[in-house]
Amino acid sequence: MTTSTENNEQKLVDGMGRTIVNLRISVTDRCNFRCTYCMPADNVEFMPRDNLLTFEEITRVAQVGASQGIKRLRLTGGEPLMRKDLPVLIRMLTQVEGIEDVAMTTNAFFLKDHAKALKEAGLKRLNISLDALDPEKFLHVNRRDCLKEVLEGIKTSAEEGFKSIKINAVAMRNFSESEIIGLIEMGRSDGFEVRFIEFMPLDSDQTWERDKVLFGHEIIDLIKKKHELVPVENSLEIGPASEYDFADGKGRIGIITAVSNPFCDHCNRIRMTANGKLRTCLFSTDETDLKALIRGGASDEDIVKAIQDAVLIKEPGHKINLDDFERPQRAMHAIGG
Ligand code: 5AD
Ligand code: SF4
Repeated sequence: MTTSTENNEQKLVDGMGRTIVNLRISVTDRCNFRCTYCMPADNVEFMPRDNLLTFEEITRVAQVGASQGIKRLRLTGGEPLMRKDLPVLIRMLTQVEGIEDVAMTTNAFFLKDHAKALKEAGLKRLNISLDALDPEKFLHVNRRDCLKEVLEGIKTSAEEGFKSIKINAVAMRNFSESEIIGLIEMGRSDGFEVRFIEFMPLDSDQTWERDKVLFGHEIIDLIKKKHELVPVENSLEIGPASEYDFADGKGRIGIITAVSNPFCDHCNRIRMTANGKLRTCLFSTDETDLKALIRGGASDEDIVKAIQDAVLIKEPGHKINLDDFERPQRAMHAIGG
């Protein structure tokens, strides 16, 4: 059985006994950046707009999910703020019964103008992608000369008083080493947790190689040269990051060892692409077409069943470290970060 009733609460439980409470919803595959670890430099083929789920369709999936125990939503992209009227969707989602938290992952470019409306709509938490504080390195990795706008977006969001702002940096060898200390010092002074994510084979350019990953333990060693770190107990059971507090009490960092030590055993998330395909893993090679169900007139029960069936066979883990690893067809921007 994929669902069980405990205290009258439905739960989505997969074949490995993991309870799924997080749904990550991609609202668009479009982006104004072209990060090397995600998108190609040009000639991107985007989903036809008709294929994107409408706000009503997204909200329906959230409602059905919530009836099965989904509690937390995260909006992703592409860049979610490429989608018009996003605060309208956020308000719709925060009103879904059972949804306790709506968060968003963004590149921050549009936040200067939109942070206020997002906060007012009920968005609580932001994860912001920022890989480099050096403008040239920023341009190199994000392929857009936009560091200034991103920093302004972060500043405006901080002033709006979001419950949590985290900075995500993809950790790449021969690139990130020089940026790590600058990023963590910014996090420490401005109150953001900075998280380093090992570069995963999800780049459109397909240039990923193991040698290009800066591993979590190397990042920790580098930071330890300057700061004493205290591991946060059980952080991996709560989220994907191994977290460390600075011993001087000023701030926290996270390391997402997606390649060297994946958190799959504790994974409690599923994802939906902007065109309504349910994916039970970032690296899924199969998808469940919720859009076809919704547009074909399916009942809520039909959608529940489709979600349950998909969750039941959720991948035990990704196979990046195994010989039979197969890259998913979609690149990161078309899956949702
Ligand atoms: N490897 C690791 N993280 C990635 N992201 C995007 N592509 C990759 C990748 N290939 C992360 C970025 C961004 C979020 C959307 O996903 O850090 O914050
Ligand atoms: Fe855009 Fe995010 Fe992909 Fe960068 S990682 S290209 S900001 S979707």
